[in-house]
Amino acid sequence: MGKNILIISTSLRKNSNSDALAEAFLSGANEAGHFVEKINIIGKSIDFCTGCLKCLNSHRCVIHDYADTVVQKMRKADVIVFATPIYYYEMSGQMKTLLDRANPLYGSDYSFRDVYILTTAAEYDSYVSKNAENGLKGWIECFPKATLKGSLFVGGVDLAGSITNNPKLSRAYEMGKQV
Ligand SMILES: Cc1cc2nc3c(=O)[nH]c(=O)nc-3n(C[C@H](O)[C@H](O)[C@H](O)COP(=O)(O)O)c2cc1C
Repeated sequence: MGKNILIISTSLRKNSNSDALAEAFLSGANEAGHFVEKINIIGKSIDFCTGCLKCLNSHRCVIHDYADTVVQKMRKADVIVFATPIYYYEMSGQMKTLLDRANPLYGSDYSFRDVYILTTAAEYDSYVSKNAENGLKGWIECFPKATLKGSLFVGGVDLAGSITNNPKLSRAYEMGKQV
């Protein structure tokens, strides 16, 4: 049976490399017959978590911006896929902000079991993506029913669009197909 897959693409630039990975994953998952929604946060208004912790009781954020919308989608998805550029050996600030804003899910009902991360960076070495992966793992540890199911890093891509024709795009496609 098809799974509900939510792909959250967090780069803000046009012709984004990490978004190209997200698109390839989307094609693979569609091919396999899943229900896939891919969203990005370009032009969206997203505030930081203020740490008020009202969400621990209400399981809803008091800030009703686009992050709140994303979090409602996260709650219902079986699979969540994050795509992010590497910024200073870490996930993008915008992805981290979304993880923080997902605090209303903590200790509440959520459907997701499998989480994936797709990353791109200018440098080639795969260690460049490790902090981002570990950061996401730390978040996932707070959701005992979920695991990090896959991580794909594509290095050596800096300028927007430079991932075009990269053979690793097919790995993202395969990853999506095998969800
Ligand atoms: C603020 C900033 C920080 C970056 N830090 C790194 C870095 O630490 N290591 C690296 O290899 N590339 C770094 N890059 C390059 C991006 O990771 C690279 O261009 C990536 O492909 C961007 O993905 P996108 O097109 O999806 O936004 C940085 C870029 C920016 C804008």
